[in-house]
Amino acid sequence: MSIKTIGIIMNGVTGRMGTNQHLVRSILAIREQGGVQLESGETLMPDPILCGRNEDKLRSLAEQYGVEKFTTDLEAVLADDYYQVFFDASGTPYRVAFLERAIAAGKHVYCEKPTAVDPAEAFRIAEVAEAAGVKNGTVQDKLWLPGIRAFLKLRDEGFFGRILSVRGEFGYWVFSGHDEDQPAQRPSWNYRQEDGGGIIIDMHCHWRYVIDNLFGEVTEVFTHAQTHLPERIGEDGEPYRCTADDSAYALFKTKEGVICQFNSSWDVRVRRDDLLTMQVDGTKGSAIVGLRKCWAQSLVETPRPVWNPDVDSPIDFYDGWEVVDPGPCDNAFKIQWELFLKHVACDGAFPWTLREGAKGVELAAKSWESHHSGSWVKV
Ligand SMILES: NC(=O)c1ccc[n+]([C@@H]2O[C@H](COP(=O)([O-])OP(=O)(O)OC[C@H]3O[C@@H](n4cnc5c(N)ncnc54)[C@H](O)[C@@H]3O)[C@@H](O)[C@H]2O)c1
Repeated sequence: MSIKTIGIIMNGVTGRMGTNQHLVRSILAIREQGGVQLESGETLMPDPILCGRNEDKLRSLAEQYGVEKFTTDLEAVLADDYYQVFFDASGTPYRVAFLERAIAAGKHVYCEKPTAVDPAEAFRIAEVAEAAGVKNGTVQDKLWLPGIRAFLKLRDEGFFGRILSVRGEFGYWVFSGHDEDQPAQRPSWNYRQEDGGGIIIDMHCHWRYVIDNLFGEVTEVFTHAQTHLPERIGEDGEPYRCTADDSAYALFKTKEGVICQFNSSWDVRVRRDDLLTMQVDGTKGSAIVGLRKCWAQSLVETPRPVWNPDVDSPIDFYDGWEVVDPGPCDNAFKIQWELFLKHVACDGAFPWTLREGAKGVELAAKSWESHHSGSWVKV
């Protein structure tokens, strides 16, 4: 069978997401497995060129993973017809300008979320891509996590009856850098608004497509944002002022009337099943949806507790939950990459567009509006 190569410009690839999820666990993993199978019988083989500002970093990344090509000359690769796809995992504030240049050069574009910081810009770049007629997409990785696939299986079987509410807990302790031998484990820009940071712009983009796809379209939001830690230590070892929100306490309503409460925080210690858990309660059953696992309890397995704080509970509430098997699951980012590459090769739809991504940016903006006004905001 014939192999069709597809040149991909990977911009901002020396960063955390660019390297780990997109280069190593997606594009190189796809190459390793022998490409993406198309309906025509052909095989699509991604051929990446690493692109960024720092030649030394690019060279060392290329050498580490045996990637042949890297460049700091974005203009030249954009002008090269060999490269059909432009991918961006650089910092959020730079995304729109990069996408705009790539679209003008006729490339199909795929990128990390958020697609922009400002919703007007996010919708504008979606329009620019649509008007140019290029294929476009944005990362919505959570949809392919094993825990979420297992939830969708249950939901589609009617396990929950009518879904009433969702309690999402996301977060973990991100060290401030002040404590000995405990450097911060996330880039410092996340804690500076002026650099595109903040947990609302980061996580509410995810909650938008998660809620829309799992529980129904988001119609209203109520949010309180907080910067609990005012100072952290940067990559340079110097203290900096945190100008971005590091925690957000939010309620969302869906068209179907499901009440979704999501706490997102980089200042919480974890005593739950995973870094993200969503408890979904329905009339006929409930589930705890984690990143990799999903636990379910049906109506018949539901315990009958009696309120008595004077004795230890006779019921172990962790009993009576069954792990749901999602079936075989690949890396979530890789699955979405394969779908995007097939879409570029005209094999299948790709609904996770820049326009869908813009809805996430819009929800983040509405969340801020709610925080400032102290009231519910329609979406
Ligand atoms: N899908 C997800 O779950 C997820 C998770 C984390 C981050 N992200 C998003 O991915 C993006 C990158 O985040 P990260 O955590 O990898 O950050 P990072 O700081 O590790 O990486 C950003 C990279 O972009 C590069 N860069 C910055 N400005 C650039 C420019 N002008 N030109 C070229 N390269 C430039 C940096 O050098 C760095 O290599 C952000 O938009 C972030 O919101 C998504």
